[in-house]
Amino acid sequence: MIQDIERVLLTQEEIAAKVSEIGRKISEDYRGRRLILISVLKGSVVFMADLMRAITIPCAIEFMAVSSYGSGTRSSGVVRIVKDLDRHLEGWDVLIVEDILDSGRTLAYLREYIASKGAQTIRIAAFMDKPERRCVDVYPDYCCFTVPDKFVVGYGLDYDELYRNLPYVGILKPEIYGE
Ligand code: IMP
Ligand code: MG
Repeated sequence: MIQDIERVLLTQEEIAAKVSEIGRKISEDYRGRRLILISVLKGSVVFMADLMRAITIPCAIEFMAVSSYGSGTRSSGVVRIVKDLDRHLEGWDVLIVEDILDSGRTLAYLREYIASKGAQTIRIAAFMDKPERRCVDVYPDYCCFTVPDKFVVGYGLDYDELYRNLPYVGILKPEIYGE
């Protein structure tokens, strides 16, 4: 696994410090609100697990799964809900928890969808943001790291379903995905 990584982009220590900081900020901003974190599977699972424990106010959690990538490294633009929400969201302040904001198509779609479920407010917490690749008008309200336009894996992010269990974020060697 490690031999497929060109270089480490974010170390475990950098990640832990930043996620704690964002968790503190969210705890302050949502004090007294009815906060629900909606994690977008599977990429955000590691960030979700760390972020929810860095949040010190009561919050609910939910999971959704969408598919837009297949096994390539570019978004197809077609978002499909693979696992839906189990509840309505009336009265809840939703924070969508995502691994990375790339073209933005997944989150643009999800934001609309979650709004249609009656959420009171909707914000986005993205572990990483790749602003150079944005095609639609979506920006993270909370973001741990802005990253260059490189294909990255680890800390939940995959290439062809592998590398999610790397505890840090690394840039994948381009020869692995054949570019
Ligand atoms: P978007 O719809 O183009 O913003 O794509 C978002 C999704 O694409 C993310 O939730 C990831 O699952 C995936 N993705 C985008 N960039 C990367 C990357 O560099 N590594 C791994 N997955 C990525
Ligand atoms: Mg993915």
